[in-house]
Amino acid sequence: MPAGRLWPLMDPDEMVRSLEAERARGVALFGAAETLDDLEAAQVEVMGRRSRFSAVQKAVGSVPPEDRKRVGQVANDVRGELQQALAARREALESLAEDALLDADRIDLTLPGRAPRIGSLHPLTIVEREAVEVFTSLGFRVAEGPEVEDDWHNFQALNIPEDHPARTMKDSLYVGVPGHPELLLRTETSAVQIRTMQSQPPPVFVVAPGRVYRRETSDPTHLPVFHQIEGLAVDEGITFADLKGTLEAFARAMFGERRRIRLGPAFFPFVEPGCEVGVSCFRCEGAGCRVCGTGWIELLGAGMVHPVVLENCGYDSERYTGFAFGLGIERVAMLRYEIADIRMLVDGDVRVLEQFQGVV
Ligand code: DAH
Repeated sequence: MPAGRLWPLMDPDEMVRSLEAERARGVALFGAAETLDDLEAAQVEVMGRRSRFSAVQKAVGSVPPEDRKRVGQVANDVRGELQQALAARREALESLAEDALLDADRIDLTLPGRAPRIGSLHPLTIVEREAVEVFTSLGFRVAEGPEVEDDWHNFQALNIPEDHPARTMKDSLYVGVPGHPELLLRTETSAVQIRTMQSQPPPVFVVAPGRVYRRETSDPTHLPVFHQIEGLAVDEGITFADLKGTLEAFARAMFGERRRIRLGPAFFPFVEPGCEVGVSCFRCEGAGCRVCGTGWIELLGAGMVHPVVLENCGYDSERYTGFAFGLGIERVAMLRYEIADIRMLVDGDVRVLEQFQGVV
């Protein structure tokens, strides 16, 4: 008999005892397995190809017929029970592993929690919203226009002559669309005046906030892209006094009740007369300080809409008059927040930007 081959000479009763012993050993081993790896090792040992159980099972075929059924039955029972014990333990170990994972992932909901950091509005957004709000509360509505403009809306209709320096490549940014040399990035929101008047009959009361572009190298007081708010009021009987009253109301709402304004002569091709508007300094009350120097802050350009501009838009300049103004948003933000360098507004440095809190 070759070594290791005990069968088929084994006695059927001994086979049954052996199976019972393997049943007990297997159930105990499986139950004792601490991990899925342990369990797999136990399975190989108890039920694997080289296991005693396997050997006995294989020998069932050679048991004499009168005992074969009995031994075979026991072998089947034992296999069934071992498989059951194995499955039960595997399930238990798997659910333990899952519990451990869940435990590791546990979130303690009894803690107060971390509040998300809430962002702040950009100072330009704060100033723009506030200014627009002041004008809409006075009865103006918001108008918009494209940032890519044509020569007519940006210059011609605004009475800006052919030889005006703003029209040269040196000062304006032309888009360079093939076949459309007249397209440029608008240099001022005044172009929206034209589009608004073209699209509706008087009366007109609009403000147009928006981005404008100039061919300019940035420095502490200049950016090639900046923001303006344009204002336009056209109706029968609009006078310079209306302009003054409107701007005074704006200055007080924006910079404090005690503000006064002053008007000085200035030239802009699309208004006649044109003026420069100064506001008494909100910081030193007009005494003179490092923000204003002289006690006055020059804030915007304005004037009575030039009759040529009204006519260019199809308005009857004999019947209607109007005023217009243009305000730099960056300038207001710099004054109000005492920002020394305009580039701070576009550098995107959170340490700078998060200092400004406005009404969202
Ligand atoms: N468009 C002018 C600028 O960009 C500002 C301006 C001045 C607008 C006078 C006006 C105005 O509407 O009447 O410098």
